[in-house]
Amino acid sequence: MNLNPKPKIIGFLCNWCAYAGADLAGVSRLQYPPDLRVIRVMCSGRIDPVFIFRAFKVKADGVLVLGCHPGDCHYQSGNYYAGRKAKFITKVLKICGIESERFMLDWVSAAEGARFAEVVSDFTQRIRELPPISEIEGLEKKADLAMKVAETERLRWLTGKEWEITTQGNVYNERIDQGQFDEIMDRNIEESFLMHQISSLVSNNPLKPGEVADNLNISSNKAFKLLLKMEDSGLVAQYDMQDRYPRFVQV
Ligand code: FES
Repeated sequence: MNLNPKPKIIGFLCNWCAYAGADLAGVSRLQYPPDLRVIRVMCSGRIDPVFIFRAFKVKADGVLVLGCHPGDCHYQSGNYYAGRKAKFITKVLKICGIESERFMLDWVSAAEGARFAEVVSDFTQRIRELPPISEIEGLEKKADLAMKVAETERLRWLTGKEWEITTQGNVYNERIDQGQFDEIMDRNIEESFLMHQISSLVSNNPLKPGEVADNLNISSNKAFKLLLKMEDSGLVAQYDMQDRYPRFVQV
């Protein structure tokens, strides 16, 4: 069932493999759907999660990133970093309420024209089976929130270091296993997501921890802890006291 017969799909293609694969598909006259708008990048590792969320904000129905096969990256490890970023993108899309199926990372070599056509056809079909992205309620706000989460300094650092920390260890030669790292990431993504929501709730509107908690459907204790953390970072400040509870406002 095609809910969206003419989707807009953005494809970020690595110059050295996938882009050449697309070229080969073209000269070999292989058929694939015409819904893909190609953006050539030098390596899939160049993709910043913000690019993906911005594409969704401007109503791309799907975003496809194609790079060199693992082990074949011309910059040696760019596609490993791309893999870590893809995992992060998927988690942020889910928490922000945009279907994560709208995003995909895959590998196509310069010699795989037929594979390029197949990957693009399958992904296009997947997107056609989803409603147009413009039907997502509050899409712009959700994509903005995803971009803010992706811009969080701590999360950028963690995403950039994941491969190193889980495979080689940190400067003290301490290696964190993948499960532990995923837990740390999930906790930080959720925290950043909630903090950005709190920031917009208390901008020009002082609120008590209980009111923040009700708005976000979290416990008052959690809301209070987050507000204190945000106060420490200078993101919010105590505005006044009301009924023995502090009210916080965005700085
Ligand atoms: S050069 Fe193609 S993924 Fe890095």
